[in-house]
Amino acid sequence: MDLCVKNRDTDFDRIRAAAPEKEPARQQYFIEADRAYFTAEFERALATGEALSRYGKECLENLQKNGRIGTANVVTFGCQMNARDSEKLLGILEEIGFQEWESEEADFVLYNTCTVRDNANQKVYGRLGYLRTMKRKHPRMLIGLCGCMMQESAVIEKIRKSYSHVDLIFGTHNIFKLAEILFERIAQGNMVVDIWESAKEIVEDLPIERKYPFKSGVNIMFGCNNFCSYCIVPYVRGRERSREPEEILEEIRRLAADGVIEVMLLGQNVNSYGKNLREPISFAALLRRVSEIEGIRRIRFMTSHPKDLSEELIEVMRDCDKVCAHLHLPLQSGSSRILKKMNRKYTKEDYLSLVERIRAAVPDISLTTDIIVGFPGETEEDFQETLDVIRRVRFDSAFTFQYSIRQGTPAATMEQVAEDVVKERFDRLLKEVQQIAGEVCSRHTGTVQGALVESLDDHLDGYVTGRLENNTIVHFPGDQTLIGSIVQVYLEESRGFYYMGRVADKESLEK
Ligand code: 5AD
Ligand code: SF4
Repeated sequence: MDLCVKNRDTDFDRIRAAAPEKEPARQQYFIEADRAYFTAEFERALATGEALSRYGKECLENLQKNGRIGTANVVTFGCQMNARDSEKLLGILEEIGFQEWESEEADFVLYNTCTVRDNANQKVYGRLGYLRTMKRKHPRMLIGLCGCMMQESAVIEKIRKSYSHVDLIFGTHNIFKLAEILFERIAQGNMVVDIWESAKEIVEDLPIERKYPFKSGVNIMFGCNNFCSYCIVPYVRGRERSREPEEILEEIRRLAADGVIEVMLLGQNVNSYGKNLREPISFAALLRRVSEIEGIRRIRFMTSHPKDLSEELIEVMRDCDKVCAHLHLPLQSGSSRILKKMNRKYTKEDYLSLVERIRAAVPDISLTTDIIVGFPGETEEDFQETLDVIRRVRFDSAFTFQYSIRQGTPAATMEQVAEDVVKERFDRLLKEVQQIAGEVCSRHTGTVQGALVESLDDHLDGYVTGRLENNTIVHFPGDQTLIGSIVQVYLEESRGFYYMGRVADKESLEK
């Protein structure tokens, strides 16, 4: 098949008509078609002096040297699931021939959006304004939007009306289709919008560009069935779907063979993993099987819903060395009355008793959480209940959020708390959380712990940054050669939320 476009009017139709029906072959085909198109564009630009990459001669020469046809910048907003999706998007773009680019001065800018709180949406609109100015200077740059925010029809309407400089829009269910959607944009010459209401198929086996060679996220399920009354996720990510265990294990085996030593199993509610599979399996059983994979040394998971956290999982966390001693367990509120209105299906007492059982099994576990203040109807008394849980549990860290109205969720129509009251409670909560976290996080000072070295230190020359099993960061003297290995580090000094340390010598190891 000749994928070259010489005649705009006929060739696009011809190329499209010859595309295979089946995935992932169809997307592979469009990757080739896009590559042919952008290669021709790039060569034409080089020949005419009108650079496809309009960001300087040096950049152009660099691309040419690397055999690349343009630059692509993928910006991730939101959670770990989005970060993983961005790796898939970047994988496709690199296969087409783009070079990853760190700034938005690129030929293709793609925002992978989040909509969990309104400020996430506002950030995207703000940056789209900035991109408008850039595109005026460089009219042939391409701008794409995808992810959760795009699943809301009000957002699409607004973008069509006020941000017509956007070139392509797709949602959460069809990110695998990037190459085809890009092809359509080129062929049609104007904005392409492709949003699916629900997931039709899960397409695997497309290229992925992992951010780190030694650690990786792994999706074990998609979507959420919980419908917490404040949350938009079930509406934009759809119903819960678990991947088959064999598929997950095979992916992790491949990652391990490729040098990955740490995996993070990802899902909105991993504790209900596997319940709806033809042959049901529990999350704890999946963890056990992952831990049998040779080469994998650390296993993490996100996110756990307290209502579904089983005794079996607590046992696996206790017994399995590879499962990291860290649990992110969103509390949301400490008031049983508010938890009921949130549709969380546990009480304050249930949560506290769960924490007690976890700590009895894994005494040194690091606990982190999410908390929302100012949920509709929250009184000072309710808020005091939240503070009470915080003081009792003493979290290693807590992500704190002001309640944000999400249209279409049940809580949006409930009576709201005044903004100044929410703000004032938020400040009090943050202060408390930070003070406790500062005290709690320093508890390992003077001990030796394994740290997976992730990068050179951003601020200190001659230092590297590592992550302890309990997710705390440590900075210590070291060089490039340590990246990707687990090093025994002596934790010299706690600086609030991170440590300064040094590679453990024999003496401190023996202590
Ligand atoms: N307002 C504020 N915070 C929210 N979260 C989810 N929805 C909202 C909302 N409408 C928070 C919850 C969740 C985290 C990912 O985001 O705490 O655990
Ligand atoms: Fe949202 Fe609740 Fe599902 Fe978490 S469990 S994604 S908060 S609905």
